[in-house]
Amino acid sequence: MAMDLTLLYHVSYGLYVVAAKDGDHANGCIINTCMQITSENPIFAISMNKDNYTYDLIKKEKRFVLSILSEQTDPAVISAFGFFSGRDRNKFEGFRYSVREDGLPVLEENVCATLVLDVLDMTDMETHVVFYGRLTDLLEGTAKTPMTYSYYHKVIKGKAPKNAPTYQADTGAKTAARYICDVCGYVYEGETLPEDYVCPVCGVDASHFHREEPAAEEGKPSRYVCDICGYVYEGEALPENYVCPVCGVDASHFRSE
Ligand SMILES: Cc1cc2nc3c(=O)[nH]c(=O)nc-3n(C[C@H](O)[C@H](O)[C@H](O)COP(=O)(O)O)c2cc1C
Repeated sequence: MAMDLTLLYHVSYGLYVVAAKDGDHANGCIINTCMQITSENPIFAISMNKDNYTYDLIKKEKRFVLSILSEQTDPAVISAFGFFSGRDRNKFEGFRYSVREDGLPVLEENVCATLVLDVLDMTDMETHVVFYGRLTDLLEGTAKTPMTYSYYHKVIKGKAPKNAPTYQADTGAKTAARYICDVCGYVYEGETLPEDYVCPVCGVDASHFHREEPAAEEGKPSRYVCDICGYVYEGEALPENYVCPVCGVDASHFRSE
């Protein structure tokens, strides 16, 4: 039976920069997969894609820092740390950060707190490795409201790249029909709504969904998709000097759909 993977958008997360060091060179990347596992002896788990440079550093150094981003953190931080690799550039350059005595970089861009962790163990998960880290230090940040993954999607309208465990391919839903729940507004995308479908948000049955036809081409705005971060611009024509509000690249990185 085919699974509706969009239901996984209901799993909640925060947004973090996980960082480690390579000699004198600091590197880090965005993750959303972080979870506290134990309490009196605080241990955390993070999931790292094996292709990420930060993964190599954590595996080698067995120590990392985890900064909790806030709603005030500039989206440019997410763009720089989440869509580019430290193999190609120094990602901390241009951002406020300090360096601890042990050489670990601590991001200071409106973060709520930074955790310092020693790797206790790791589990291979095919494309990813889950690292378990014991908390050894905790630094207070300047911000108070952590950014949730949902805030990132809904307010910043950001996407996740392929290396993120929660990545979902764009299904090109523009041409698919949509069924809208008349109780809570939840949108099911697909040609046919299953008869026994139950709204995943408010629990009403299929009779509460009304069909919206696929967007007619005429009079509808075109979609331009950023090939770096997946951000979608909707409008008749993409302005020549357009800059992606999520990852900061110029109009040449947008393809029309
Ligand atoms: C919103 C978001 C969430 C992400 N979550 C994860 C994650 O949980 N684990 C992971 O390995 N990569 C995740 N990534 C992808 C990495 O941040 C990305 O591949 C980065 O370019 C790796 O940089 P590096 O090669 O310098 O380590 C995420 C990216 C974004 C934008």
